[in-house]
Amino acid sequence: MKRYLLLLLTVTLGLSVRAQDRCDIIPAPKAYEEMPGAFRLRSAAVEADPAFAETAADLSARLAAVTGLKTAKPAAIRLVRVEGLPEEAYRLEVTQQQVTIEATDPAGAFYGVQSFLQLLPAQVYGDKRAKGVRWTAPCCRVEDRPHFPYRGMHLDVGRYFMPKETVMRFIDLMAMHKQNMFHWHLTEDQGWRIEIKKYPRLTEVGAWRPFTADYKDENPDGTPHGGFYTQDDVREIVEYARRRFVTVIPEIELPGHASAAIAAYPQLSCNPDAPHAVATSWGVKTDVFCPNAFTFQFLEDVFTELFDLFPSPYYHIGGDECPKDAWMESDYCKDLMKVLGITDFHELQTFFVRRMDSFLRAHGKTVIGWDEILDGSAVESTVVMSYRGHAPAAKAIQRGMKTILVPNRWTYLDYYQMDPALEPKAQSLYLPIDKVYNYFPAVDSLRTLSDEYIIGYECCVWGEYAQTPERVEYLAFPRAVAAAEVAWCDRGEKDWDSFYRRMRKEFGRLDAKGVRYNRALHDEMFNGGTAYREIPGQLQWKEQ
Ligand code: ACM
Repeated sequence: MKRYLLLLLTVTLGLSVRAQDRCDIIPAPKAYEEMPGAFRLRSAAVEADPAFAETAADLSARLAAVTGLKTAKPAAIRLVRVEGLPEEAYRLEVTQQQVTIEATDPAGAFYGVQSFLQLLPAQVYGDKRAKGVRWTAPCCRVEDRPHFPYRGMHLDVGRYFMPKETVMRFIDLMAMHKQNMFHWHLTEDQGWRIEIKKYPRLTEVGAWRPFTADYKDENPDGTPHGGFYTQDDVREIVEYARRRFVTVIPEIELPGHASAAIAAYPQLSCNPDAPHAVATSWGVKTDVFCPNAFTFQFLEDVFTELFDLFPSPYYHIGGDECPKDAWMESDYCKDLMKVLGITDFHELQTFFVRRMDSFLRAHGKTVIGWDEILDGSAVESTVVMSYRGHAPAAKAIQRGMKTILVPNRWTYLDYYQMDPALEPKAQSLYLPIDKVYNYFPAVDSLRTLSDEYIIGYECCVWGEYAQTPERVEYLAFPRAVAAAEVAWCDRGEKDWDSFYRRMRKEFGRLDAKGVRYNRALHDEMFNGGTAYREIPGQLQWKEQ
């Protein structure tokens, strides 16, 4: 009787589940049709249109490495170029005999391959041969394309330097989930992380601090910290990302968050004779770039070196949290304001940002800035990253500016993901995975315009509590997987129960890749716990 009831329940539930909910692909594809039978992998050979050759070679190498199969012809896996599919779209058909991925552009073919990999056993994500695995994929037809063209992840390496290998792994995990914009927060008060040949002191001096204290300048840890990426490291990372259809967007913070640069070159400050040091504690600092000739020359030189390293069409110039104290005390700034005919120090920031914006635009770049760039008369071609909720996005849209939604309460992955009692110290807001998942990036009051002006969405891994590579992965995963689905799916397409079910296999993939995700969260999710769910009305944990 019990068994009969169970069967009845399964059949009833099964009927109510949408077709695409049955597959294991994350982010969920637009359409998934199950077909009978399974494809059995017998060779690691992949045949491809020349436009998709790199993706085919990478797939073939991965299959050979984990399965031990040879690349014997004829290939049963084919990447075929067709005309007329939208950008980044693909079709995937798995039959008992073969696997066919069709796309118009190489990114589409790459995404088709990512979906196919997810249909295989999770061990396909390992880095060595997996024995005793049946290498099959269920027969199916998938049609898919992304909702947003900008599907980002941000990583702050200014607070704590992360090794090159950690950055590449982060990018690899993004690509596996069809995220395509890596926002690399490279400069901070606490560290300048990129080699600039013309200004060697940036990394000789600006990349190092003698110890790290907390927000209140208390509890110094007594441990020197530092590190930076050489230009060769950057080239390697950008190439690694390119092969995975991830654009690397450099962020150089200006005019604020500049203590490390100023410690290296005090002429960048309005008061070069005062003592300047790389910051050793968190919080917003008053050492900001002075809008003088040395600074503008410096910044143009820095960006000129970056142009050779980062082909990205987008460049991020920060623009957030710039206290005006140093400018207010500076006779130079007061005189400059008279010449410019302005009386408000916010307008001086506008002058600063507009000047750098023009320089970058003249070099064919589209500038992204945090939403403070709206405080003055921002240039319309600038893309606004709305992080202080949705009001800045609304303002940007009304001014006809493109916007990326990064509202902190839904996207900052340095917030607690569970009850703080169960977690290491994090920022004191609360962002459980189902809250990340259930968010749709839009300004509800401006629905039609939202569709036109919101180009994407990203989640941020800020660094104050991401001291090690392990902590970066712990904060990011599994919430970054939810973020990938948020960016990929259309409005109304997401379904938490489906996502929850698909996360079982996903954790297997993350295990195969050795990702050090939040294990306690996994255990809560799959052992009947509720600590991973949003508690209605609870936005903020009290500081412990
Ligand atoms: C920010 O959180 N200051 C962008």
